[in-house]
Amino acid sequence: MARITASVYTSHVPAIGAAMDLGKDKEPYWQKVFAGYDFSRQWIKENKPDVVFLVFNDHATAFSLEMIPTFAIGTAAEYAVADEGWGPRPVPRVEGAPELASHIAHSVIQQDFDLTIVNKMDVDHGLTVPLSLMCGQPKEWPFKVIPFAVNVVQYPVPSGMRCFKLGQAIRKAVESFDEDLNVQIWGTGGMSHQLQGPRAGLINREWDNKFLDRLIEDPEALAKVSHIEYVNEAGSEGIELVMWLIARGAMADVGGAGGRKPLVKHRFYHVPASNTAVGHLILENQQ
Ligand code: DHB
Ligand code: FE
Repeated sequence: MARITASVYTSHVPAIGAAMDLGKDKEPYWQKVFAGYDFSRQWIKENKPDVVFLVFNDHATAFSLEMIPTFAIGTAAEYAVADEGWGPRPVPRVEGAPELASHIAHSVIQQDFDLTIVNKMDVDHGLTVPLSLMCGQPKEWPFKVIPFAVNVVQYPVPSGMRCFKLGQAIRKAVESFDEDLNVQIWGTGGMSHQLQGPRAGLINREWDNKFLDRLIEDPEALAKVSHIEYVNEAGSEGIELVMWLIARGAMADVGGAGGRKPLVKHRFYHVPASNTAVGHLILENQQ
């Protein structure tokens, strides 16, 4: 059967992708950001998944205000890299996992979470920057990807608790797929940032680090945090962090799955990257 072996959490700041694409990643400013991913790039080589279930948000790139799915699962064989206004990033196309994705769609919808099925979607920095951070600049991405887009851009957005429970349904869906696959689930976006208005530039290190503590130790309680707390404490775009609860909900120690607490393989926090705090965690399920 397929198994979720680990979860990865990371911010997806577009300027990080630009820094890599423009060869600025060795500059001192950016080196401090990328240093936090040296471990991760080695770790993913040693723990190469077959498929990454990549939870991200589209930033009004593939979906405009004309159509706003709350949860959308990519079931396509491949995904083009989006043009976000400066041409597509010079990174490989993303290979999908249509059979597993279709199975997860079926199972999760049967578990009462309605998903939008997406057979064609260009993927923006929300998906490609985490791949670049974790894998560097390969000719091909070393695994298949199931893009899972969450609306955190236009209210009403889903609650942390709904995301956490959805993660549990995704774990059950993966474990009922009858093929031996090593699956990782990634949650992306955050940490604290606000990109517009009088509070633009807001960073809350203390709240961010508390979020990381709680995500590791007590995700069930963290899932009860209200939208208004995210916005007050972590800025308007800090709401992206609810996506991390989908990945955490898919781990083996929650939702009655009976597993042990995950191992914290890596933890990193850094300010600044562009206007944003960068947070990163790797949690491994213990066998
Ligand atoms: C920025 C955009 C994002 O989508 C994000 O998650 C963080 C930062 C930005 O434009 O700086
Ligand atoms: Fe974002």
